Amino acid sequence: MPEHYDLDRFRHNIFAANYRAGQHVFFMGRTQFAGKTTMAFALLDAVTAPELPGTVFCMKTQDRVVSALTRRLDYIETPTWPPQRKISNWHPRGHTLWPRQGLKNPEADEAHLEREFDKALLWHQKHTPGIVFADELQGLVALKKIRARLRAVVTRAGGAGLGLWYANQKATGIREATIDGYFKNSPTWTLMAKDPDERNLGAYSDISAGIPAKSIHEQVLKLDRNSWLAIHRDGPYWCVVDAFDPAWKV
Ligand SMILES: Nc1ncnc2c1ncn2[C@@H]1O[C@H](COP(=O)(O)OP(=O)(O)OP(=O)(O)O)[C@@H](O)[C@H]1O
Ligand SMILES: [Mg+2]
Repeated sequence: MPEHYDLDRFRHNIFAANYRAGQHVFFMGRTQFAGKTTMAFALLDAVTAPELPGTVFCMKTQDRVVSALTRRLDYIETPTWPPQRKISNWHPRGHTLWPRQGLKNPEADEAHLEREFDKALLWHQKHTPGIVFADELQGLVALKKIRARLRAVVTRAGGAGLGLWYANQKATGIREATIDGYFKNSPTWTLMAKDPDERNLGAYSDISAGIPAKSIHEQVLKLDRNSWLAIHRDGPYWCVVDAFDPAWKV
């Protein structure tokens, strides 16, 4: 039986206390219900610092949660990379890279997103340690160049101190842009939310990390809203994070 922790105990005593630069983290859960973006920011808040800066990649045209948490964490939002440096905040602990989309020409928007994320990923590969949080992995791997670079980071750059964190709604990906095996095998921590869809549960078990797939299914189905089954690959070790906060507002 996994132990239960509230969010603050988990993120400070378990996650941040053991996090090493270069470790990858995967957040899985269906849209809105899980709270992937919220959980990722909560963990970024516990580990990022000017010495271990984070960059959040946002490719949605709007996301209230991303804009509110960017401000709450004192991250700097930038539409382009490299960000403009501010004298008042020369070494921020993080940025949110949120390229603007004109929405008139989808190809031009896609090319623009690809260029901006590519510059930021290359920068992070050259400036370690750091963390890139690829919110919406699904959309990012649909950009060819980004897919190749994310793959390089997740399979090789870990040792060099760049941790790739990513969130996805489906463990399997979609037919047009599958989530390759290395995204499931590389993370040190995998956080899974409840998903009643059997096919997704099947994909959860790819990430068993030595814990029987059947036990993972059982535990995931018992989770409450906004709670997580967190699996640490190297233990293997698992616990439940009861992160639901009825008073939570963004
Ligand atoms: N621990 C929590 N307690 C209470 N409310 C939460 C919690 N986590 C997230 N929420 C709320 O749930 C909603 C969805 O959260 P969030 O945007 O983080 O989900 P998501 O999984 O990233 O969704 P999407 O797939 O659409 O990006 C938001 O309104 C958010 O404030
Ligand atoms: Mg989200």
